[in-house]
Amino acid sequence: MDNLLEVKSISKRFGGLQAVDRLSFAVRRGEILGLLGPNGAGKTTAFNLIAGFIKADEGEILFGGKQIRGCEPYQICASGIARTFQLSKPFGGLSALENVMVGGFARGAGRARVRDEAYACLEFLGLAQRADTDANDLTAFDKRKLELGRALATQPRLLLMDEVVAGATPSEAGEMVELVRKVRDRGITVLIVEHVMKVIMGLSDRVIVMEQGRLIADGVPAEVVKMPQVLKAYFGDGYVGASA
Ligand SMILES: Nc1ncnc2c1ncn2[C@@H]1O[C@H](COP(=O)(O)OP(=O)(O)OP(=O)(O)O)[C@@H](O)[C@H]1O
Ligand SMILES: [Mg+2]
Repeated sequence: MDNLLEVKSISKRFGGLQAVDRLSFAVRRGEILGLLGPNGAGKTTAFNLIAGFIKADEGEILFGGKQIRGCEPYQICASGIARTFQLSKPFGGLSALENVMVGGFARGAGRARVRDEAYACLEFLGLAQRADTDANDLTAFDKRKLELGRALATQPRLLLMDEVVAGATPSEAGEMVELVRKVRDRGITVLIVEHVMKVIMGLSDRVIVMEQGRLIADGVPAEVVKMPQVLKAYFGDGYVGASA
């Protein structure tokens, strides 16, 4: 199996709370892997550990076979992992184009080239007409797309996406699904956290499920949503008992 990312038994404790608990999973090269789990399951913390924003207490994180646990976020970004944030916070006072250019500069390319690539990225996202708009003046959904653009501008091999359709209308969600598919078609592997089932089910080749920091399921979407431990995590004991 060709694994691009291997997470091996990583843990993170915040005071008395075990937010991530010996979590292990792999992301295969070229797939869209959905990461599910109820609120507080540890999904964003797992992203923060992979991207180096917080350090794991234990375990290994291998990207392309190389250990990245303990590396700084900029080093992990340079190695080919980009992320979007659950709360999009563009650089206000900079235009949409300049926001995407920030991602390009992270690669160390020259200004003219970064600018051209950033513009092409905005075209890909359907945001070219907003290139000169202050990022703060974009709609919430356009801010989400901008965030995707900033991540893509770093030219990642692996993209971590955290709740990219939160608050989006159904048509916006559909547009984002198409964009994520196109991203994958460009050869970028995607690990995506999403609560909107329609999105995750339609998009993911495979899904993994976390509960209380632990991995509780791994499989194709149609099978995972029927697993008793997954139903229990989302709906509680009563539901599983009632459906049995
Ligand atoms: N920096 C922190 N300090 C203390 N506790 C934290 C910190 N970050 C996260 N937590 C806690 O860790 C647990 C997991 O949080 P996390 O944000 O990873 O969950 P999540 O699965 O992303 O949830 P959601 O679906 O609501 O985004 C929660 O109980 C949260 O309150
Ligand atoms: Mg989260």
